[in-house]
Amino acid sequence: MRTRLTILCENLVGRLVGSGEHGFSAFIETNEGNYLFDTGSGHSIVGNSLALGKDLKTVKRIFLSHGHYDHSGGLPDVLKLRGKVDVHVHPDVFIDRIHVFQEEGQEKKRFVGLPFKKSYLEFLGANFLMNKDYREVEKGLFLTGEVPRTTAFEKPDSRLFSEKDGKIGQDIFADDQSLVIDTEKGLLLILGCAHSGLINIIHHVMGKTRKDKFHAILGGTHLDFLTPEQLEETIHVLKGMDVERIGASHCTGMRAAFRLHQEFGDRFFYGCVGSVLEV
Ligand SMILES: [Fe+2]
Ligand SMILES: [Fe+2]
Repeated sequence: MRTRLTILCENLVGRLVGSGEHGFSAFIETNEGNYLFDTGSGHSIVGNSLALGKDLKTVKRIFLSHGHYDHSGGLPDVLKLRGKVDVHVHPDVFIDRIHVFQEEGQEKKRFVGLPFKKSYLEFLGANFLMNKDYREVEKGLFLTGEVPRTTAFEKPDSRLFSEKDGKIGQDIFADDQSLVIDTEKGLLLILGCAHSGLINIIHHVMGKTRKDKFHAILGGTHLDFLTPEQLEETIHVLKGMDVERIGASHCTGMRAAFRLHQEFGDRFFYGCVGSVLEV
């Protein structure tokens, strides 16, 4: 599949167009059609799509990586432009989510889940296709579905909680899914926040595709929010893999992005608003 991926929403602005926000969205043009992976928080997707010349009305399918607001909050704005469209999600994308953090010596909480009701999104045109399993959505384009946790060192972010069936507990992110595109140069793996663990995701994709050559892995890796040991162990495992380019974005964070740049040199790039990857 020939692919051109443009980052629409991201924390940083790299070119002289668009706005930054805490969020992620990628516009994907292929010979099979155009797709949208995540929608950012809603602050910048429409403005950035106009600034970057990407027409949201042409999107054939929308994929949500998980239910955090910074990946799903832009969905109503996209639907208002696009109208009826298939939106691929895991059923847990709608559960309530909470971020617990310390501020001025006090514990605080904030809601970080999908900020809109399913019925409202359906009213705007979303046709939700619930997906838990690895599946080919279009020829050469795959959704990972739920990712088995196989590594011992990849742990969930201890500050993130969810409420399911009336019970609050550590958010295990069953809904975290990534997109895989099979290109002539190898696999393209596009991550939302990689809450399942970056290496868990890669192992899952290798097992399902029976391929181990990645042309590029890009998106949010969440590595800055985990322990330094987990970051180093992730880098160690990554170095033994066949990955040509590593694009850090969003919740990778500066410290982890610098470490990845140090280790991977020219194979590393920062994916900010307007960054383009063509395969
Ligand atoms: Fe995120
Ligand atoms: Fe997230």
